[in-house]
Amino acid sequence: MTKLNIVILAAGRGQRMHSNKPKVLHTLAGRPLIQHVLDTAAQLTTGITCVVYGHGGEAVPQAMAKYGADFVLQEPQLGTGHAVQRALPHLNDDTFTLVLYGDVPLIQRDTLEKMLLEHQALTLLTIHLSNPAGYGRIVRDSAGNVICIVEEKDATAEQRAIREVNTGILAVSTNLLCNWLSKLRNENAQGEYYLTDIVGMAVAQGVAVHTVQPAHGWEVAGVNSKAQLAELERIWQHEQAHQLLMNGVTLADPARIDVRGKLVCGRDVEIDVGCIFEGDVSLGDGVRVGAYCIIKNTRIGANTYLEPYSHIDQVSIGDSCRIGPYARLRPGSKLHNEVHVGNFVEVKNSEIAANSKANHLSYIGDSSVGSRVNIGAGTITCNYDGANKHRTIIHDDVFIGSNTQLVAPLEVGRGATIGAGSTITSDAPEGELTLSRAKQVTLTGWRRPSKKE
Ligand code: UD1
Ligand code: MG
Repeated sequence: MTKLNIVILAAGRGQRMHSNKPKVLHTLAGRPLIQHVLDTAAQLTTGITCVVYGHGGEAVPQAMAKYGADFVLQEPQLGTGHAVQRALPHLNDDTFTLVLYGDVPLIQRDTLEKMLLEHQALTLLTIHLSNPAGYGRIVRDSAGNVICIVEEKDATAEQRAIREVNTGILAVSTNLLCNWLSKLRNENAQGEYYLTDIVGMAVAQGVAVHTVQPAHGWEVAGVNSKAQLAELERIWQHEQAHQLLMNGVTLADPARIDVRGKLVCGRDVEIDVGCIFEGDVSLGDGVRVGAYCIIKNTRIGANTYLEPYSHIDQVSIGDSCRIGPYARLRPGSKLHNEVHVGNFVEVKNSEIAANSKANHLSYIGDSSVGSRVNIGAGTITCNYDGANKHRTIIHDDVFIGSNTQLVAPLEVGRGATIGAGSTITSDAPEGELTLSRAKQVTLTGWRRPSKKE
């Protein structure tokens, strides 16, 4: 990594989003557009990253505060050249500057590295489009050398026919950039200071202008509307699904998976339709994920089977577990190997040791559950007294009968049995049967009321 300067232009209005939120804070694959660019920038430089923002006020610097970038307000917005001028005082003169756009989220590190590799004074990222409408055109001489960029609104009919366009992304020697920006004029169709005018200035000074093309068209796709955002989201999801397939993951339908973060899979992982993965998720060898599961920031061990419609958030799950259908595992939970958590069971901030089972309709909150424990249907740990949370400790080999309430704080000793239907309010001793239940009575000869005539 070098001490490169990176300038991210993000002051534009984003009018076509029809939103009160600044355009670059709309999310793609779960991250704000500008965060994608900042994450890529962080992979390229240990130097300065400067974000030029405008519309939406402080929302952009506030949302991206953790990045330690310099934020520069551009107000009013007088064009891309003016935006980079605002960033200049923040930059190191003796290195290169890479200009990126906050609304072009999917630019890839490899493409940018290719631009920087040759240390050319000025390198443009260009692309050939079958429909170049709206873009600045790359004008070349008969020998193929770049002469200038002409904006669509300033272009002649002949220039408009050019299909090689300016993506807006460029790498430039900072010294030269300072010099060229100081000479920008706004005498053009839009009355703006065009960053693209530095190309003509470079050529006039005999500085060769280099061009590089991105590996994929989607890398340089900008977001100006919700339709473009949705389209780019699908492209990116398709790309990620393809990567998973290439790595040997079985996807029931690559068009029906959403990865909003980083999904790492072992060998022979199978994922059914409609699943959403958020943040950092890792799936061990042989993991199967049933349809419509939502998994966030979770690690799942080998050969675990997640049945459909399970919702897992910030959990560590061991090997060979069986979860769901319709399980809800909440933050701070840890399941060891071969644990079974069945339908309509909620587990929060609890540890469940190996070979334990809670198969039906239970709430396990703020609890420590030992090994080989069986938690019967309808068991509830009453962890909250209206003011504070309390822990329930269930030792190894315990059997909890169905429809039991365990009013925390309490401890159930090793090997204890709790009779079904109990409300347990103090510790249950190890090895014994404990229950709290009204005695069963039978009223012999009792008759059901019958309807009045
Ligand atoms: C710009 C390029 C054009 C290129 C196109 C690619 C110029 C003059 N033109 O045109 O050659 O084909 O991008 O999409 O550079 N921005 C600011 N401050 C401003 C103006 C813009 O920060 O004052 C930011 C915007 O938020 C956006 C980017 O710069 O991220 C590009 O601005 P936009 O208005 O979309 O430029 P175009 O006219 O499309
Ligand atoms: Mg644009």
